[in-house]
Amino acid sequence: MNVLVLSSSPRRNGNSALMAQAAADGAREAGHRVEFAYLSDHVQGLLRDCRTCRAVDGACTIGDGYERLLLDQVVPADGLIIATPLYWYGMSGALKTFFDRMFCYTSGSATDGDGVAAGLMGKRVAVTIACEESYRGATLGVIAQFQELTRYLHQELVGVAVGIGNSRGEVAADPARPLEHAADLGRRLFDARITDYRIDTPRSNRVWAAPDPERVGTP
Ligand SMILES: Cc1cc2nc3c(=O)[nH]c(=O)nc-3n(C[C@H](O)[C@H](O)[C@H](O)COP(=O)(O)O)c2cc1C
Repeated sequence: MNVLVLSSSPRRNGNSALMAQAAADGAREAGHRVEFAYLSDHVQGLLRDCRTCRAVDGACTIGDGYERLLLDQVVPADGLIIATPLYWYGMSGALKTFFDRMFCYTSGSATDGDGVAAGLMGKRVAVTIACEESYRGATLGVIAQFQELTRYLHQELVGVAVGIGNSRGEVAADPARPLEHAADLGRRLFDARITDYRIDTPRSNRVWAAPDPERVGTP
């Protein structure tokens, strides 16, 4: 499978990039092909009013690398690993702009809106977050946002790894071992079981395969 890592901190050797790297290593270990993209190399302009900056044929005219990133790397990927520092209890501005500008390529007046929308659907997505504060509430909002935007895009949110740190590279010292969690997410990006039941969803009373009776009781 093809995996694209989107790293969205301006600190290339910072904590979220380290977590992204760990997730990428995990995905490679599982045999997937991984590409790495720093958003700051591709996205310079904020979303504008499309009525004033869209070309007559509907194309976006903001002249940075966003379009190539979206069409050549994001759309063809089977899975995304999205890395962000926590900024003001949300995602980084660069990552928010990445999502904001996607609108120009999926709305009714975009040149190939249906094609881009179809290409965005069905991906498996893992998120890694680096932040200073460890209390659960700090990341609740941004995790809810990822849950909703992946639901909207018909993508599967496989998991979220949160690492606590502030100085560059400090997540490596987090006793909760977020780098291992991130690597595990990358490894299981396409295998992790995601369930979202309704009351009438047919299912057995077990979630995982029954243990092998031959092995029960063996050390
Ligand atoms: C603009 C800005 C806003 C921040 N807001 C928060 C915050 O709301 N909560 C928090 O825990 N850490 C916050 N931090 C700290 C970063 O999340 C933390 O330093 C993180 O490790 C940075 O990741 P990076 O090295 O990938 O850039 C903020 C840092 C910056 C620069």
